Amino acid sequence: MDKLFNPIKVGAFDLKHRVVLAPMTRLRTIQPGDIPSPMMADFYGQRASLGGLEIIEAASISVHARSYLGAASLYHDGQHEGWKAIADAIHARGGVAILQLIHGGRQSHVEMTGGLDPVAPSVVPFEGVALTKDGFVPASPHRALAIEEIADIVEDFRVAAVRAKKAGFDGVELHGANGYLVDQFIQDGTNQRTDAYGGSLEKRVRFMREALEALISVYGADRVGVRISPSGEWGGISDSNPEATFSYVAQVLDSYGIAYLHVIEPRIKGDDTLHEGHPTVAVNYLRPHFSGPIIAAGGFDRESAISVVESGNADLVAFGRHFSSNPDLPLRLKHDLPLTPYVRAAFWGGSEQNYSDFPTYAEQQAVAARSEDEADVDAV
Ligand SMILES: Cc1cc2nc3c(=O)[nH]c(=O)nc-3n(C[C@H](O)[C@H](O)[C@H](O)COP(=O)(O)O)c2cc1C
Repeated sequence: MDKLFNPIKVGAFDLKHRVVLAPMTRLRTIQPGDIPSPMMADFYGQRASLGGLEIIEAASISVHARSYLGAASLYHDGQHEGWKAIADAIHARGGVAILQLIHGGRQSHVEMTGGLDPVAPSVVPFEGVALTKDGFVPASPHRALAIEEIADIVEDFRVAAVRAKKAGFDGVELHGANGYLVDQFIQDGTNQRTDAYGGSLEKRVRFMREALEALISVYGADRVGVRISPSGEWGGISDSNPEATFSYVAQVLDSYGIAYLHVIEPRIKGDDTLHEGHPTVAVNYLRPHFSGPIIAAGGFDRESAISVVESGNADLVAFGRHFSSNPDLPLRLKHDLPLTPYVRAAFWGGSEQNYSDFPTYAEQQAVAARSEDEADVDAV
């Protein structure tokens, strides 16, 4: 049996296999108020498997942290029932539910932040986007955070974790990837501060540490993971020496004994094409720096997932797009069954169609058998 389908202990969780649902923002909350919708509970419940790990789409920790209209968030009591329904749907099928927590930082627009300027470690020219009622629009000009404001954001992370726990989530993941606020502090292309939060590598990582400590204070380290994207370019992010930066980040994270390190590989671009000249590298150089489980994500298929886990450089593999259209993806991968193609047009917003209506393999077979029966009857 390939190791990908073997059990593994990840922090507090005894998982039965290593195929993980990657977090995917699908912009299907109910407006106003970003209320998690019943179709979201259906979607996540369908993708749950006994002892399987699901990482739920990024939830903004405050109004100021929001980036995309329709995206998940977790900062007011009116959202509680919707989140609880999602955690319950996953638990009903024996799955483990982790909620990703995000602050979008400069990737935002005044319409999404309650009229406030988006914030970042430093003011650096940025041509990113946010999503408002007018569709994708250029991000609003951002301002640099005053040092006194940082503790308030850390506190927002803590309070969001308290809400996640109350809703029944088994743990939380700090979104330190894809050019959002934590990543903006880590990487030197976006962090040009000269105070306690910038300058040296140690200082650039301080915000991540504080946000992480806030989450750990609620859940304990064995129920908290962190996601990073050492070679990502989304959000105009860059670093002068990603390998040194993220090796250090991995060492720091290791010192906390967190449940897992989640690493996005640089293998795909937003339009599904492969990144030329970017092999799967990050987990290779990060492995010596992190002693706990590593989840690799980004452009994996059955063969490359089996291979990265066999290599020992990663212990689990998270799938995004394939999981979107195959609710029973772990089973399909295990038995090498054909995959239903994903529908990119339904990724960001929409109805249940091409979201929570994808059949399992067994359902597809049942439909095929029924139409064969009908053809037989017609032939009589
Ligand atoms: C529709 C969509 C939404 C996404 N939203 C998030 C998100 O909320 N948080 C995150 O860390 N990554 C997000 N990602 C990135 C995925 O988690 C994953 O890393 C990426 O899709 C590559 O994996 P794949 O090749 O298996 O799809 C998103 C990707 C897609 C396609």
